[in-house]
Amino acid sequence: MGTYIVQGGRRIEGEFCVRGSKNAALPVLAACLLAEDVCVLENMPQITDVVQTLEILQELGCRVDWDGRTVMIDTKQISSFVIDNDKVGKMRSSILFLGALLGREKQAKLAYPGGCAIGRRPIDLHLAAFQRMGVEILEENCILDCKVSRIAGTQIYLPFPSVGATENILLLAVKAEGVTLIRNAAKEPEVVTLVRFLRAMGAEIYGEGTSSILVEGVSHLHGAVFTIPGDRIEGGTFLCAAAMTGGKLCLRGLEREQMGAVLEVWRMCGCRFLWEDSDTLLMEPPKCLRGDLTIVTGPFPAFPTDMQPLAMSLLTLAKGSCMISETVFEARFSQAGELCRMGADIRISGRNALIHGVDKLHGAEVSAGDLRCGAALLCAALAAEGVSLVHGSEYVERGYESIENAFSFLGGDIRLQEERNGYV
Ligand code: EPZ
Repeated sequence: MGTYIVQGGRRIEGEFCVRGSKNAALPVLAACLLAEDVCVLENMPQITDVVQTLEILQELGCRVDWDGRTVMIDTKQISSFVIDNDKVGKMRSSILFLGALLGREKQAKLAYPGGCAIGRRPIDLHLAAFQRMGVEILEENCILDCKVSRIAGTQIYLPFPSVGATENILLLAVKAEGVTLIRNAAKEPEVVTLVRFLRAMGAEIYGEGTSSILVEGVSHLHGAVFTIPGDRIEGGTFLCAAAMTGGKLCLRGLEREQMGAVLEVWRMCGCRFLWEDSDTLLMEPPKCLRGDLTIVTGPFPAFPTDMQPLAMSLLTLAKGSCMISETVFEARFSQAGELCRMGADIRISGRNALIHGVDKLHGAEVSAGDLRCGAALLCAALAAEGVSLVHGSEYVERGYESIENAFSFLGGDIRLQEERNGYV
C-alpha cells in the first residue's frame, strides 16, 4: 500500500525496454502444472500478480526458484489440488488453475473468483465449456469442487471471445481424449503465447490467433524453456506518458503485430512512429495532441480495453472532443472522476465517455481503483502542472514492475511513499 508523489511537467523521454507481459505470464505459469517436469521461464516480470501465482504453485507442492527474471518451476510432485480462497479472491486469473489442475489431477477445488472494480467478471463460459468436456462441478458456499474421470474432446462455441475462457479450455483440452475445437476463440496475443508454450511442452494445437483453435489431446506433456514476450499494454502505457508530456521515446521489446490498434489511435492524435526493426519502436509526439476521434474497445485486433483508461488520460489533453465506448467491461471508467479532479472535462453516459480536451491538467490528490486506472492517473500526473498524490500503488504494482523507477529513468519526477501502519 502506498502513494506515488509526482511533480508533473517534465518530459518522459529516452529509451526503455518493456518487461515481460503480465497477461501472457499468468496463464503460462498455470500451464506449468500440466507437465510433471521442470519448466524454465525467462523475462518474467517482477510484479505482485506473478508473486501471488508462484505462491499458489508452491502451495500446491511445486518447487519454485526465481533468479532475477528467470523462474524455474518443478512440478514433478504436487501435493494438493485446492487453491487458497484468499488468493482466488485477490487475483481473478487464479481461475486458470482450474483447467490446469483438472488437466493434471482430474480434480480441482477453488473459490468462485469475485468481481472487481471493472465489472462482475463472471466465469459462466469457463464452467459451461468444462461441463461439455465431462467435468462435474459442485458449487457450495462459493467453492467450486470439480472433478473429471475422462476429459472428452468436443466442439465448444464461445458466445463471446473470452480470453480467460479460451485459455482455460486450452489448459484442459491439451490432455483430453480426442479433439477439441474452440469456435469464436479469443485471438489476443496472450492466447497465442500460451499456445506456443503448450506446443513447446508437446501439445498438438492449431489455429491460434484465429477464431477457431483445434486441439488434439495428448497423454503426456513435458517441461520446456520459454521466454515471456514483452508487455504490449506496458508499452502502450509508456507511449501514453511520453505523448502526454511531449517526450520522444524509443521502446524496445515490443512485437510489431500486437500494437496496430493502439498505435492507430496515437497516430490520429498526431504522434509519429517508426519501427527501427521488428521490436524497436520510435515515437515522436506532436506539439499539440489532436482530438475529434472516437475509440471503441473490443476483442483483439480492436483497440484493447486495457488501454482504454490510458487513452482517456491522453485524450484529456487532445484539442477537440473525443468519444470512448467501452464494450468489454461494464464498469471501466473509474479513472474519469479522478481525471476530472485534475481539471479534465469528461462526461460519462453508460458505457460511453465524452471527453473535451483542456489546455492543461493540474496536480491533485487522486486514488486508483484498479491496475490500469492507476497507470492512467500516473500518466496524467506526470503531464499535470504541480504536484499530485496518486494513492493505490498496490493496484499498479500488480502489473507494472517499479513503475516509479521506470518513469524516473525516463525523466519523470516521481517517487513511491510506502504506507506505514495506515499513514503516508
Ligand atoms: C483478460 O481478462 C485480462 N486478464 C484482462 O486484463 C483483459 O482486460 C481481458 O482479458 C480482456 O482482454 C488477464 O489476462 C489476467 P475476458 P479476462 O474473459 O480473461 C465476460 C488487466 O488490466 N465474460 O475476455 O477475465 C466478462 O465479464 C486485465 O491486465 C463472461 O461474461 O477477460 C467481460 O465482460 C483487466 N463470462 C468480457 O467477457 C465468462 O465466463 C471479457 O472478459 C468470461 C468472461
